Amino acid sequence: MKMIEVQNYDEMSQKAAQYIINKVHQYPTIKLGLATGGTPVGTYKNLIQDHQQNGTSYRDVTAFNLDEYIGLSGNDKNSYRYFMNEQLFNHIDIDKNNTFIPRGDYKDSEVECQRYERLIADHGGVDLQILGIGGNGHIGFNEPGTSFHANTHVIQLDSTTREANARFFKNIEDVPTKAITMGISTIMRSKEILLLVSGESKKDALDKLINGEISESFPASVLKNHPCVTIIADKAAVSGLKLHS
Ligand code: PGA
Repeated sequence: MKMIEVQNYDEMSQKAAQYIINKVHQYPTIKLGLATGGTPVGTYKNLIQDHQQNGTSYRDVTAFNLDEYIGLSGNDKNSYRYFMNEQLFNHIDIDKNNTFIPRGDYKDSEVECQRYERLIADHGGVDLQILGIGGNGHIGFNEPGTSFHANTHVIQLDSTTREANARFFKNIEDVPTKAITMGISTIMRSKEILLLVSGESKKDALDKLINGEISESFPASVLKNHPCVTIIADKAAVSGLKLHS
């Protein structure tokens, strides 16, 4: 894993956006894997600004998101489909038909998982996957204990994850208890991974990732087995690193 240290959230967002923009210029038909949550919002803002100012085009880009809450339709303000439309897709020239997110309101979630996994495979897989990391080490919604061999699947959300995400909802009871997520195996098949880590609340997770063991009890640790991972982390997140342990 290669690590780029930056000053703060804004610099992380600029660097991550530039990384993506360069790839889109190089490979206009790139398949991007996208993430939700607070971490990538600034990156998406930078992509939008660049699209408006410099005309970077996403006309031929395909996007696959990591996950979606079960029980929420794409029109629900808390769904990740809604989030992606608002934070990125509505503001760039990507064809919405080429943006894919698991359907949280599909009647049979297991069938939806299989469909989503097949969809990614049918497109030749993800070229560049953007990831955040949960305080508990989750990537996507792969909570601690998830098998490294899992494909897209239904997951019961950790109480810590529901607490962390309650800030987006009226109250914690409204946070869904289940989600569909690309599996660890799905994520590991992407050709390249860009992991974004910002803030003091992530410093223990980053330390565990860099210095800890590879274990299913800390899902992000699997990334050490991936041949092409770049981490962009800000000072606050890096401050907890025991670099010489
Ligand atoms: P965050 O979430 O970006 O909102 O901190 C990251 C994650 O839970 O994967």
